[in-house]
Amino acid sequence: MSVEINGTAHERAPRPGQCLRTYLREEGCFGVKKGCDAGDCGACTVHIDGEPVHSCVYPAFRAQGRSVTTIEGLGTPEDLHPVQEAFLSAQGFQCGFCTAGLIMTTAALTEEQRSDLPRSLKGNLCRCTGYRAVADAVAGKCNVSRSGPAVGSALGAPAGPQVVTGTARYTFDLDVPGVLHLKVLRSPHAHARIVAVDTAAAMLVPGVELILTHKDSPDRLFSTAQHENVAEDPADTRVLDEVVRFAGQRVAAVVASSEAAAEEACRRLRVEYEPLPAVLDPVSALAADAPLVHGDKRGRNVVGELHASLGDIEAGFAAADEVYEATFRTARVQHAALETHGAVGWLDEDGRLVIRSSTQTPFLTRRAVASLYDLPLDRVRVMAGRVGGGFGGKQEMLVEDLVALAVLRTGRPVKWEFTRSEQFYGATTRHPFVVTVKAGARRDGLLTGLQLSVLVDTGAYGNHGPSVMFHGCHESVAVYKCANMRTDAHAVYTNTVPAGAFRGYGLGQVTFAVESVLDELSRLIGIDPVRFRELNVVRAGDDLAAPGEHVEDLGIASYGLDQCLQKMRTCSEIADIAPDGWLVGEGMAIAMIAAGPPGGHFADATIRALGAGRYELSVGTAEFGNGSTTVHAQIAADELGTTPDKIVIRQSDTDVVRHDTGAFASTGVVVAGQAVLRAARALVASGGTVGHGHFDGTPRSVAFNAQWFRVAVDPATGELRILRSVHSADAGTVMNPLQLRGQIEGGVAQALGATLAEHVDLDANGHVTTTTFRQYHLPTFADTPYTEVHFASTRDEIGPLGAKSMSESPYNPVAPALANALRDAIGLRLTDIPFTADRIWQAIQDSH
Ligand code: FES
Repeated sequence: MSVEINGTAHERAPRPGQCLRTYLREEGCFGVKKGCDAGDCGACTVHIDGEPVHSCVYPAFRAQGRSVTTIEGLGTPEDLHPVQEAFLSAQGFQCGFCTAGLIMTTAALTEEQRSDLPRSLKGNLCRCTGYRAVADAVAGKCNVSRSGPAVGSALGAPAGPQVVTGTARYTFDLDVPGVLHLKVLRSPHAHARIVAVDTAAAMLVPGVELILTHKDSPDRLFSTAQHENVAEDPADTRVLDEVVRFAGQRVAAVVASSEAAAEEACRRLRVEYEPLPAVLDPVSALAADAPLVHGDKRGRNVVGELHASLGDIEAGFAAADEVYEATFRTARVQHAALETHGAVGWLDEDGRLVIRSSTQTPFLTRRAVASLYDLPLDRVRVMAGRVGGGFGGKQEMLVEDLVALAVLRTGRPVKWEFTRSEQFYGATTRHPFVVTVKAGARRDGLLTGLQLSVLVDTGAYGNHGPSVMFHGCHESVAVYKCANMRTDAHAVYTNTVPAGAFRGYGLGQVTFAVESVLDELSRLIGIDPVRFRELNVVRAGDDLAAPGEHVEDLGIASYGLDQCLQKMRTCSEIADIAPDGWLVGEGMAIAMIAAGPPGGHFADATIRALGAGRYELSVGTAEFGNGSTTVHAQIAADELGTTPDKIVIRQSDTDVVRHDTGAFASTGVVVAGQAVLRAARALVASGGTVGHGHFDGTPRSVAFNAQWFRVAVDPATGELRILRSVHSADAGTVMNPLQLRGQIEGGVAQALGATLAEHVDLDANGHVTTTTFRQYHLPTFADTPYTEVHFASTRDEIGPLGAKSMSESPYNPVAPALANALRDAIGLRLTDIPFTADRIWQAIQDSH
């Protein structure tokens, strides 16, 4: 074959059946990304003779005699194409994994097509930005400040030039000579014992090097969840287990010289199963006679529970003039980071195990791998390249343990990259919750009683389950001063795909229920919902209290909820035009979040003076689109009296930076940022050339969010349109308004996806049936409304330079605000998300 790629002739023939995406990557064009391999996401977009195509569904042989342009050929950092320049100036990205595809699509648009982006960009998905930054880029807006103070300026990400030119290096964007490929056979049963695995036919497939079954697995239990304190998660998982507990669990792994050989060998494995009784829903799992998911380890399916009170809940309801109670259900949803899970491992020249992974927690993953295989910590190195989105999903060790075993057994480099379908049935999801809330209030608006009953479905394994349950039950009620509260909560195993950490960490689910009930209660007592919140929320100086939680290290070190609520008051003043005959309603909700997790989160930073006003900052936390790298440079520059472009950052490599718990619980600014600040101050104070900083994550403050919607609903079809979306956030000092706005827009967009459309479905046998983006319906440009973002003006006494956390909390008030607006529009309270058009339509029909 002869094909011209970025102006250079390439002669290598593709393999039979090879798509253009993998062909181009093998030719060194790493800017061509894999998001789905199904033509849905557009991350692999390239031009063929000037026409944009999704290269993952374009046969490589069809490029014969054609001219292919990838992002690398569109422009260079020294000579950017105008669209690359536009994405850089607008900061039209966060993690940047989708960006090359978006730029390639945009570069081929006509002027007319540019004026209709909902249609023109329908083939390109972005999970991070909420698309406003993309729209700004296409419109040619310059959002990035070229100058200004180090802290508080809208500085662009240091990696921006690499992101827009396709030269930023994500997990698999490197050549690893001689790499072997790992694929796994996954369980067809929701619950079964593996009686035998016949590997004979599989071993005959040319190229197969190794087959791993449960007999090769270390006899160790661990949790895929990564926390500083390992006791937070139940040790209930094996690398490969004799018992499979969900349809999709690993059964065996094949390591071969090509992906195709590994997949063929997986198909030839013959496994004899002894099916076991399965339980697929959390209510059934609580029954005394329910099948036990981990019968070998515990005598019931409950993996975490909370039963606690403040005051006297019955007295609280007796004192109320009105009491309202309802039960709410949230769906199983997927993080859908555009970069799937994956890792590549090898032995270095000293025989040490090296793993390059798409992880939010390099240090904790190193500890977990070393522990599994009895390796000294210094014999394992874990590093992350640029991570293509995480949202909490990459706080799990879902690939590194098996890649490590394969490398240790073969002595050769091994790569394992999840397919998009594996991401749906082999990774983790948001925990589905069933939440009953009962609340009572007096006519004067005083909340007298607030009771939660919470059931958390953690799936087949308990990773993050208990912590998500505790967190969900804390700030969702602690934001209110109520003398009488009661919480009863259970997290239970079921034979379903495991749930895990996900933006909001349980708060989104419980906040949906609490804020919906309080909206109804305010209606019952006849008080405006904003006023009702103002009467009952915590205030500066109040102690924070929730049933069963020890929060000695948590306080209100800055308070901007009053400003957020004040913004909600003014939203109605602007009118919108709804289609004729549609029902219109407005609603709001609030949320509070602790700026960091309880029990410690550790970060270290080191700053070295390089001379000529330049510094090297080493910090452990990973950059996955959250913008922490930019803010760390800003903090260091502010303290050192220089500019952020003089700060060179090294991060996310256990060999070159000190310990960091990882990038979660929105700690990038408040914990790692505090360590950076301390390192800078130590350097200045010492007068030397090196400064170290450490922060253990305590004490902690709280951040606040409020969301308001005006919606219109077509009663004939159930279609819901968002006419106006307003978000107000108290994040303390705004370190970088551009990035903070982006985090909020992205969080609101992700929450809207979960509120209106997204749901991972299971069939009656526990198989995930939504296995592609096309079935799952990730929000597109056309689905995502513009959200007006406002910041409260506060300065926190704990956070670095007054900042608080804000990457996950914007998610939390979105579902209830939308539910309350929908209730206002149609006069009905919907309790189960997502609010799909058919559900809304059915509710309207049922009410007649
Ligand atoms: Fe678009 Fe991350 S920036 S997927």
